Amino acid sequence: MQDLFEEQLKALRSASLDRHLREIASSQGPQIEIAGRRLINFSSNDYLSLANDSRLREAAIAAINEFGVGAGASRLISGTQSPHLRLERVLAEWKGTEAALCFSSGYAAALGSIPALVTKNDVVLLDKLCHASLIDAAKLSGAILRVFPHNNLRKLESHLEWARREYAGRRVLIVTESVFSMDGDRAPLRELFELKKRFDALLMLDEAHAVGVIGLHGRGLAAEENLSNDVDVQMGTLSKALGTSGGYVCGSHDLIEWLINRARSFIYSTAPPPAIAAAALAAVNFLSSPEGEERRLLLWKRIRLMRELLLSLDVGRWTPARDLSELGVGRLDAGSKRSTSNAQRPTLNVPTSAIFPLLVGDEHAALDLAAALKDEGFLVPAIRYPTVAKGSARLRITVTAAHEEDHIQSLCEAIKRNSP
Ligand SMILES: Cc1ncc(COP(=O)(O)O)c(C=O)c1O
Repeated sequence: MQDLFEEQLKALRSASLDRHLREIASSQGPQIEIAGRRLINFSSNDYLSLANDSRLREAAIAAINEFGVGAGASRLISGTQSPHLRLERVLAEWKGTEAALCFSSGYAAALGSIPALVTKNDVVLLDKLCHASLIDAAKLSGAILRVFPHNNLRKLESHLEWARREYAGRRVLIVTESVFSMDGDRAPLRELFELKKRFDALLMLDEAHAVGVIGLHGRGLAAEENLSNDVDVQMGTLSKALGTSGGYVCGSHDLIEWLINRARSFIYSTAPPPAIAAAALAAVNFLSSPEGEERRLLLWKRIRLMRELLLSLDVGRWTPARDLSELGVGRLDAGSKRSTSNAQRPTLNVPTSAIFPLLVGDEHAALDLAAALKDEGFLVPAIRYPTVAKGSARLRITVTAAHEEDHIQSLCEAIKRNSP
């Protein structure tokens, strides 16, 4: 057994696909401490820098003083405490839906929801670049699974025709993300909505990297596109721009009641700590305030700067650039091709979010570039298979509102210096 792992680990190492934990001896923020060194952090999804915000900390401490640390049981047994219900009420209001349900993580929200929505002989149509939690959940459901090429509406349409022909009367669920986690581009939501309506399918949207970033008060892409009541299942996580931890689903009263009865990751798991729910509530309240909106707009200022600098440094090939002024609309060309070739020059996709994928291609080269940047004082993770396809390794740069202009400028200069 041990030998078997040894061989497997050796194979991972030789393909530059091994992963390691690194200890961070500080709170999250634009600078973190690793092995006694301060690094400028371009690896976090804490887009609005709320993970260590005093408002959230104080809300958590007050809830600990009132409710203690642990939730004691699953929500259906005795774990539903006031902060959970308060958070769900405010989340639903913020997202413009009838109701909301929280889970212990975004992963658990996906894993509980999809198998509750579809079963054997139903059909799930999944975008090729969907997050692992959505893929795993779709597999777990036992439904018939078809993957459509990334954002390819024509292919999705033909899958829908096939599903309606071969599985008449069955439920068909389209699953996609607002902002794709490793590419930073967006789904063509309005067009997806038109298709789902035409084929009488359900639409599930993972807003993990959109809430807090896209739309007025960071309500996400569905709200931005005025589709809050038309996207059947709006999933998301509290662990990125909202700075805390946990997942959620927003939708109709009936959907939420069904999930309370059928989502196994909700039913058979201890409730999240009430203090975390209280901190997440403080995050949503902050986002809904003028100050929160100001923070979000500051994030976009930083995103624009990163884009301009990366462009001016000419570190690689770009896909055709979209005008940033369009970002309020959030539309992408359906079926647009991304570069996943083995290009040795880093390549950068168009930013429509706080995520900048610098495509390198080769796994060793991506690790080398990440190491060179670390030597210069920057933490930028090299993302490799199986998170992305083999040969499409990349540096995933994430910008936050707390980055200073200098941080961004010096990172871009370091990328230029270290790019082949
Ligand atoms: C697109 C997407 N969905 C879901 C998740 C899971 O969320 P969580 O980290 O809260 O489990 C993530 C985060 O890793 C993600 O990027």
